[in-house]
Amino acid sequence: MINVRPTGAALGAEITGVDLAKPMDDATFSQIVDAWHEHEVVFFRDQKLTPDQHVAFSRRFGELELHVRKDCCRPGYHELFVVSNILENGKPIGSQDAGLFWHSDLCYIQAPSRGSLFYALEVPVDASGRVLGDTKFASSTAAYNALPESTKQKIVGRKAVQSYKKGYYRARNGEVRKALTPEQEARTPDVQHPIVRTHPVNGKKCLFVNEGYTASIVGIEGAEGDALLDELIAHATRPDFVYQHQWRAGDFLLWDNCLVQHQAVHDYKLPLRRHMERTTLTGSVPF
Ligand code: OGA
Ligand code: MN
Repeated sequence: MINVRPTGAALGAEITGVDLAKPMDDATFSQIVDAWHEHEVVFFRDQKLTPDQHVAFSRRFGELELHVRKDCCRPGYHELFVVSNILENGKPIGSQDAGLFWHSDLCYIQAPSRGSLFYALEVPVDASGRVLGDTKFASSTAAYNALPESTKQKIVGRKAVQSYKKGYYRARNGEVRKALTPEQEARTPDVQHPIVRTHPVNGKKCLFVNEGYTASIVGIEGAEGDALLDELIAHATRPDFVYQHQWRAGDFLLWDNCLVQHQAVHDYKLPLRRHMERTTLTGSVPF
């Protein structure tokens, strides 16, 4: 029997009484899946997982994505996307600036990811003991529900353009990113998804636009479209829809990429080290 303790914010719950490194029966697994759909983000503290166990547990949820940036994956594990500021022999071991902008993982592909499973290996703590490198999660169901009726009318049935290139090339602290390879470019054409998305399992309505990748609203041109998109993006992450997770090494956290969007808090730098690894579930075409 698992124990589920909501965070008290608009979303998120801690699950206790589970050791993810041990074999798990189907009944327990399905309680975890149910809690995840209900709370949108769930996490387990004090886990000790090998890369193989991380991948194996993730596979119980379904197939895994292989990230387009293979250079950011753990050597030998194309399923494990590394988010870290650590350099080895002068080379980054993973993505150094993942999640700088609010986003939902792989929202820019035809069938965006269903969810992501994130494991904290090293968490930055400053000299005064303050924990840095939190991740914020915003409930897209809370955001949708709180929209004024007039806005709901405006966006019902509409689509928005989701663009990997918008996210990849946008300015970040003055750094200019190296051009995508032709193969990476070919794998990431712009796509269109409904602005109001229905969760495929629990049927909840979600506001599916984000700061990182949503480029425009289909069919509303120019300044009017830009203004509406800016308004929706700002609304989506209103503080009362947000849960901010403060990491501890050993945390294993699942987020649903339809029910929430997320953002990394970049408030640390070397020599304070952060090392996280993510598996990414495949998903289905939004409706
Ligand atoms: C990610 C991501 C945020 C973080 O890995 O998908 O957005 O806090 N990470 O590292
Ligand atoms: Mn992400």
